[in-house]
This record gives sequence, structure tokens and C-alpha cells, in this order.
Amino acid sequence: MATIAVAGKGGTGKTTICALAVRYLVNKGETPVLCVDADPNSNLGQTLGLEVGITVGSAREQGFSGNRELPSGMTKDDFVQYKVQEALAESEGFDLLTMGRPEGAGCYCFANNIIRRYMDELADDYRHVVMDNEAGLEHLSRRTTRKTDVLLVVSDAGIRGVGAARNVIDLAAEMELDVGEVLFVLNRAGEEARAALMPEIEKLELPLAAVLPDDPGLFELEVAGRSLLELDDDAPSVDAATPLFDKIFAT
Ligand SMILES: Nc1ncnc2c1ncn2[C@@H]1O[C@H](COP(=O)(O)OP(=O)(O)OP(=O)(O)O)[C@@H](O)[C@H]1O
Ligand SMILES: [Mg+2]
Repeated sequence: MATIAVAGKGGTGKTTICALAVRYLVNKGETPVLCVDADPNSNLGQTLGLEVGITVGSAREQGFSGNRELPSGMTKDDFVQYKVQEALAESEGFDLLTMGRPEGAGCYCFANNIIRRYMDELADDYRHVVMDNEAGLEHLSRRTTRKTDVLLVVSDAGIRGVGAARNVIDLAAEMELDVGEVLFVLNRAGEEARAALMPEIEKLELPLAAVLPDDPGLFELEVAGRSLLELDDDAPSVDAATPLFDKIFAT
């Protein structure tokens, strides 16, 4: 059982790498997988070919805005659990929970605590958990109390992205996130870019675990709004990501 999460600057490939992880696990029969989309501008569902209707955020609003009658006999606790269950989109080998809008101005901490507790319980029913995030790290500490076994910090093939990855790793350490291992993934980089960035990666002591090439086939699926689960085994991105996932999900 492994819980993995991604972090990194905007647009570097976090959602893509989550989808590749889900594809890997489903194809290996390492199921069921719980996917959590913790990005308020959620798009993991689309990347996995799922329609997302209700989000946990909308459930929270309905349950705790105070001007809504609870169904008779239901406590707020029951109601949130029911709504979270409703927000769970089911697919072949994996389910997706979309968090939706984050806690706004009036942070209903009570509701968030319930959601957090319930998320932890929910995760126990799955073999692996894959969590997509927005660029920030806040919710990694707030959304779940469970340990993240592997935090994948993603960068695109640029010197600024690599520097941002270092900052994310330092921030995770400062926040004392419960993370087993931090791994650095360089995304959309060919041989040349990798060679050019290597001195910086070494200087910043980034734990480089994989280099994923720019994959035109992957981008085509994305543009067409199709699921990345359709990628072939010999797609360059899949091929390059496989040893990384073998390592993470072994045992
Ligand atoms: N290895 C790759 N090859 C080709 N295209 C890629 C690759 N990785 C990511 N992309 C494309 O780059 C874009 C950004 O990727 P993605 O949405 O995964 O980034 P993100 O870090 O999740 O972004 P955000 O911070 O906005 O959530 C997408 O259009 C995606 O299809
Ligand atoms: Mg994303």
C-alpha cells in the first residue's frame, strides 16, 4: 500500500504524472486505487476519462452553510459522509474523489475535520492512493492526516522550474509534512535538456528519480480531451515512467 502525492510549479506535469501512475497501477492490477484531485481547478478527472459532477467542496457548502435543512435523522457528520460518498466517481479499477473549491473565507474547520477523518477512513479501502495537488502545499497537511509515502516533486525542463522544485522540497521540510521519501521528476526533457540541467540539479542536491520526455502522443490526447489511460505501453512517457513506478509501488 502506498500513498503518493505530487507537487511542483504550475503546469509542470503534476496531473499528467498522477494519471500515468493510475494507468500503471490499473494495468498491473494493483487495484483498487483511490485518486484524489485536491486542485480546486481540478482536471484529473478529465485526464482519467471521468465526468466529475459533485465535489467535496460543494458538499461542504451544502452541509455547513447553515441555511440548509439537514435530511431528518441525519447529523452533520452523517451528511458530509454521505455527500463525500456521492462525490466519489467510480471507474474500472479506480475511484476519483474531487475536492473542488478549497476552504474559503469562512473556513468551516469542523467540516474540514470531518472530511479529513472520513478521507482517512475511505483510503483504508484502497490498495494505493494517488493525490494530485495544486502548486501550493498547504492542503497536503490539511486534507489528510495520513502519511504520504512518496512526494513526487515535478519540474519542467528549465532552470527556474528546477529552482522551484528545490523550494518546494524545502517548504515540505519546513511544514514538517509526514512524507516518507521525496523524489524529483524532470518532465518534458530530452537528452540535451537533461544534460544541460544536470549541473544545477546536482548543485541543488535534488533527488532525481526519473526524466520523462516530451511525448507528442500524450499531448495529443490531452488536446483532444481524451483519457491518458489510452496511452500505449510503448509511449515514450509511459516507458520512462515505468521504472519509477516499479520502484515506488514495489513490495
Ligand atoms: N511528458 C509530457 N509530454 C507531453 N506533454 C506533457 C507532458 N507532461 C505534461 N504535458 C502537458 O503539459 C500540460 C501541463 O501538464 P499538467 O496539467 O499535467 O501540469 P500540472 O502541473 O498539473 O499543471 P497545474 O499546475 O495547472 O495543475 C498539459 O497540457 C499536459 O498535457
Ligand atoms: Mg494539475
